Amino acid sequence: MSFDRSLKIAPSILSADFANFGAEIEAVEAQGADWIHVDVMDGHFVPNLTFGPPLCAAIRKHINTVMDVHLMIAPVDPYIQAFADAGADVLTAHLEAGPHIHRTLQAIRAAGCKAGLALNPGTGVEDIEYLLDMVDLICVMTVNPGFGGQKFIHSQIDKVKKLRAMIGDRPIHIEIDGGITPETAPLMAAAGADVLVAGSAVFKGGSVSNPAPYGDNIRAIRNSIG
Ligand code: DX5
Ligand code: ZN
Repeated sequence: MSFDRSLKIAPSILSADFANFGAEIEAVEAQGADWIHVDVMDGHFVPNLTFGPPLCAAIRKHINTVMDVHLMIAPVDPYIQAFADAGADVLTAHLEAGPHIHRTLQAIRAAGCKAGLALNPGTGVEDIEYLLDMVDLICVMTVNPGFGGQKFIHSQIDKVKKLRAMIGDRPIHIEIDGGITPETAPLMAAAGADVLVAGSAVFKGGSVSNPAPYGDNIRAIRNSIG
């Protein structure tokens, strides 16, 4: 996985057909997805449950791009090795998931994954100064994590601008997660984001047997950015 700041669209399989993940992933990749975003929820850190390492391992062989695993779980550390073994390229933990995020990020890199740090909408950027040299990606949540299809929180635009300035020349991706549409994507790209997660806006109107809307939806987001 080489680093570059070109725009990447990462469909979230949270909005795909849960009975057909392999085919859904192959369909969105064929329709132009750059990364595949995998939302892991534990019913404790967030009020929703999805899936764990065995599911990630099972879908890994259907992903030809980047497997971007977003852990909405607490604690994180006991599960890092299992998600690394499942084939995660990027493993993202939340700053809010526990008191020892520094140790968690060290452990993610030690397990051979790119380390991602996610920030809830209510979390400021001042606490990440001493983490900047140990992360490969910062995920700015533009909804409160737990569900797809929520409304974009505009106050996060300012956070992304601040983050972009803090990052400087460091090879750190800025990822945006939540409420991305052709209307909100350009705001985030202009603020400095390079990875846009989109669930409902990519999967709406399409299916494995009718995948063309996935391509239309991905292009609509891409083309919204000047
Ligand atoms: C929310 C998840 C998101 C979600 C985004 O907790 O982390 O990745 O799937 O869904 P949309 O794009 O529908 O807001
Ligand atoms: Zn996510």
